Amino acid sequence: MPTTKLILGQTLSFTGNPFELGPDAAQHEVHGAVAITNGKITAVGPADQMKATHTQAEITDMGDHLLMAGFVDAHVHYPQTAIIASWGKRLIDWLNTYTFPEESRFGDPAYATDIANKYCDFALANGTTTAASFCTIHPESVDAYFTAAATRNMRMVGGKTCMDRNSPDNLRDTAQSAYDDSKTLIDRWHEQGRATYAITPRFSPTSTNDQLAALGGLWSERPTCLMQTHLSEQHEEIAWVKDLFPNARDYLDTYEQHGLVREGAIMGHSIHLTPREITTMRDCGVTIAHCPTSNTFIGSGLCDVTGLNAAGVTTGLATDTGGGSSFSMLRTMAAAYEVAQLRGDALHPSHLLYLATVGSAKTLGLSDKIGNLAPGNEADLIAINLASTPPIKLSSARANTIWEAIFPTIMMGDERAITDVWIAGERII
Ligand code: GUN
Ligand code: ZN
Repeated sequence: MPTTKLILGQTLSFTGNPFELGPDAAQHEVHGAVAITNGKITAVGPADQMKATHTQAEITDMGDHLLMAGFVDAHVHYPQTAIIASWGKRLIDWLNTYTFPEESRFGDPAYATDIANKYCDFALANGTTTAASFCTIHPESVDAYFTAAATRNMRMVGGKTCMDRNSPDNLRDTAQSAYDDSKTLIDRWHEQGRATYAITPRFSPTSTNDQLAALGGLWSERPTCLMQTHLSEQHEEIAWVKDLFPNARDYLDTYEQHGLVREGAIMGHSIHLTPREITTMRDCGVTIAHCPTSNTFIGSGLCDVTGLNAAGVTTGLATDTGGGSSFSMLRTMAAAYEVAQLRGDALHPSHLLYLATVGSAKTLGLSDKIGNLAPGNEADLIAINLASTPPIKLSSARANTIWEAIFPTIMMGDERAITDVWIAGERII
């Protein structure tokens, strides 16, 4: 008989979408328990009841720590781990000054492996159990990433970044080599263990029509992959796209013309959208990775997460490291709150926690596997100390509800709040 584990603590899960139902979409147990067998969650409920029905279980008592699904970071650049928080002006300047020189190092498998391992460890320390990462144009960077993820048994999404123009010579592929290399990598990694491959044109300014068409063709040959790219992050970028693609109706159309707009497409940022783009994204099942620390750090703008949800566009939350200034999804939730406040909109903690877990899992098409404490899901979960620093402890001590108790951690917390991390039921931190 396989061992069943019972983890006790406060539990938080979602039975619906708080953007539709408000905080009632969440289920909270002050004395709760999660049962895990064979790496999967089998039940979640009140501790007394769960102990009575799981008498043989191996019990871990987390006291009043909050147990919830591990965070899902819907858009990162693991190769930018070492250049996070580099001073810069605007997106294109920042890419040319810091990002491209750093990314050019990833043809070296030893360097790629070192950074991939560091990235995975930083993510886990921050309670991020799944991420969707851009790699570099080098296939070695993809092998390093999925190998580091497999070593930790993490469910991770990633792909070779494709660029055949407007980038340095040593960071350019071609339409054909992007197609060939991506195909080889898909056949090596996609759905191997917990890996999901995402076909990854960086963004329209660095891909020719030929390259976008080749990748659209590849996606139709390998339809279960995801497709990740960037959309409408900065006004200067949008103006550049208009120049580069005079025949496109808008930025989204530069992808749409090449078969890259359909379910499974994840658009990073998506701040400055036209009504046509929003409607098309909703109708086609295209999702958005909201990157608020990046959007403030690079000065990109204030994404209308509430409006996008109201319009029916699935939205997740993402660090966008290293354009984003943190590996922490707590810090990212705080930034999402602040960005929404600047739009006159106060996101509730249930919105923020939903975006960082179920919302991101839906964004990546993985919500039947991860992102929620729900029976049948893989047991990637975290324990959060809601009093991890003296100021957080002082503030949360006044709380009358779980939302008041967790909000100081959302606003001021960091990896010190993440006490334990389970991957597929195994505690690794
Ligand atoms: N647009 C194209 N590439 C990038 C990148 O690496 N970071 C961000 N923030 N935006 C991008
Ligand atoms: Zn990005």
